[in-house]
Amino acid sequence: MSKAVRQGPGRLIAVANMKGGVGKTTTVVMLAEALAADGASVLVVDLDPQASVSVCLAGETLLAEMIARGRTLEAYLALKLINRDKPALAPRIRDQVSVTTHQNEPLAVSLLPAGPYLRLVEREIIYELTGRNFSMHAIEGQLSTIFQEEFVPLTARYDYILFDCAPGISPMTEVAVRGSDLVVVTSIPDYLSTYGLDAFVQTIWNNNGRRGSHLAPARPPHVLVTRFQQQVRQHQQTLARLQAEAAAKNAGIRLFATRIPQAAALAEALMPREVPPTFSGKYGAHVSNVLIPLVAEVKGVFDGT
Ligand SMILES: Nc1ncnc2c1ncn2[C@@H]1O[C@H](COP(=O)(O)OP(=O)(O)O)[C@@H](O)[C@H]1O
Ligand SMILES: [Mg+2]
Repeated sequence: MSKAVRQGPGRLIAVANMKGGVGKTTTVVMLAEALAADGASVLVVDLDPQASVSVCLAGETLLAEMIARGRTLEAYLALKLINRDKPALAPRIRDQVSVTTHQNEPLAVSLLPAGPYLRLVEREIIYELTGRNFSMHAIEGQLSTIFQEEFVPLTARYDYILFDCAPGISPMTEVAVRGSDLVVVTSIPDYLSTYGLDAFVQTIWNNNGRRGSHLAPARPPHVLVTRFQQQVRQHQQTLARLQAEAAAKNAGIRLFATRIPQAAALAEALMPREVPPTFSGKYGAHVSNVLIPLVAEVKGVFDGT
């Protein structure tokens, strides 16, 4: 199946971790293309000012053009919250952005890109609204409202909306993590990455009492092990610890059984190519070993809900 067929109400999935370099962007690209190869229509939203997923999907030339024409998330946010205009989000989405083909058709992956000004715009919004006597809490409320009013309705158009979150916790990243149906937390199974994972889970899932009226995410964090190296002892030990933690009574996390291996082919999946690749050519044996099982697990999260 390659033609996008609506599979029902769309799902919002945030791929997040405070730590950088843990495979968030790689996971978003792979998962977007794998879901699209499974017949779904997918929108990728870039929340990272490094614009990694934007450049991976759109390529440098198209991304530069979209940034110059204000076809980005930050241009939308600046107009909406700083200029107090009524900008539209939909014209900033580029449909059919992936050049990867599957069964002779391009994959149905769309993109709402970010550019390097996203960080500045998020900061400007805070200055601007603080100047208008908004509290930090009210500012976060404004961003949540945008999420509810602009992103959630896109689930009528797309089967999956994947947010590639910024490292750290930027204002829009926090809103996406709290408002999504599923948060996939990518983590390398080593000491520092899982230490960072605990901090992230504490901040978002276990801190709602202190921070008052913030919404807790709909589901517990779903950890996806990335860059896994079976032969590395530290990886084996950390994986065993994560498995025990996820299996415990009252576990605070879930753990995907599928793991993303450390593999050159997966790192290269993000690089631009001269000739548009096919889905199976691009991912090779990882399609059946990793991508198909991961898609099944992600769909399983939503079964019956
Ligand atoms: N499974 C993998 N195998 C090999 N290299 C990987 C894998 N996943 C990510 N990488 C590499 O690790 C680096 C960070 O990955 P990235 O997806 O950009 O992380 P993040 O978005 O969390 O910062 C990139 O250079 C990427 O190519
Ligand atoms: Mg990234």
